[in-house]
Amino acid sequence: MGYQTLLVENRNRIAFVTINRPDKLNALNAQAKAELKAAFEGIRDDSEIDVVVLTGAGEKGFVAGTDIKELTQLDEQSGKSFSEGGQAVFNTIENLGKPVIAAVNGYALGGGTELALACHIRIASENAKFGQPEVNLGIIPGYGGTQRLARLVGKGRALEMILSGDQIDAQEALRIGLVNKVVPLPDLLKTAEALATKIISKGQIAVKLALQSVNATHELSLAAGQSLEAELFGRCCKSEDFKEGTTAFLEKRKPVFKNK
Ligand code: COA
Repeated sequence: MGYQTLLVENRNRIAFVTINRPDKLNALNAQAKAELKAAFEGIRDDSEIDVVVLTGAGEKGFVAGTDIKELTQLDEQSGKSFSEGGQAVFNTIENLGKPVIAAVNGYALGGGTELALACHIRIASENAKFGQPEVNLGIIPGYGGTQRLARLVGKGRALEMILSGDQIDAQEALRIGLVNKVVPLPDLLKTAEALATKIISKGQIAVKLALQSVNATHELSLAAGQSLEAELFGRCCKSEDFKEGTTAFLEKRKPVFKNK
């Protein structure tokens, strides 16, 4: 499918999705959000893809937020719908059922930080900048940022970012646990690809069920989460991959997973 605001390339069971409005620092307009949703729904249903790498075009921007031009006419009702629409796009990413790695290659502001937060793993280039500057526009983060940022880095740090609107650099993002790793910009995509390739080399049943179980921490109490974990652990134990993984260990060889 052809997109106007996205590039999608499938290679070695990895989908590389690039938001492609570099002249606007990849700000998310309505079309980009609709295309992101369609692209991720396609990837979700594509049995040839196991992992996604999401990045922005150019060397300066991952996503510099939602397109501010499209905010100006919002009123109370349309503002609520606008927020719910963006949340639905980002929920599609978080609930994809396949790991999504954000390769954050520059400004990730507002909806850009929120988009990275909806991904499962975040790798940043040294020039990346994160922030929730919505307060400068008289609004709050509306694509899940107030919820996901606080859950990832804690309420105090999330509130400092959201109430001050300040940007933080990649090293500070690493220090507070907002990103997993920081690498030089030229190494960003190959680092994300290497991680994707490593994940693909594992049994995909275990990968998907681990993702489901960890994702559920947002929703469940510890007891309910452990109950889900036990159920999914049991499901792994009936797979051929489980037999292969344990047998290969005991036979001192590498497992050959069939994802069954
Ligand atoms: N919405 C719409 N357009 C945006 C945008 C956004 N969120 N962020 C950047 N752009 C556009 C700029 O308007 C400019 O377009 P133009 O060349 O047609 O004027 C282009 O992208 C380049 O941005 P510019 O501001 O010239 O780059 P810079 O290096 O001086 O500054 C930023 C970079 C990211 C600091 C600055 O663009 C910025 O503050 N963007 C808004 C961030 C924001 O508030 N996001 C949250 C939105 S809720």
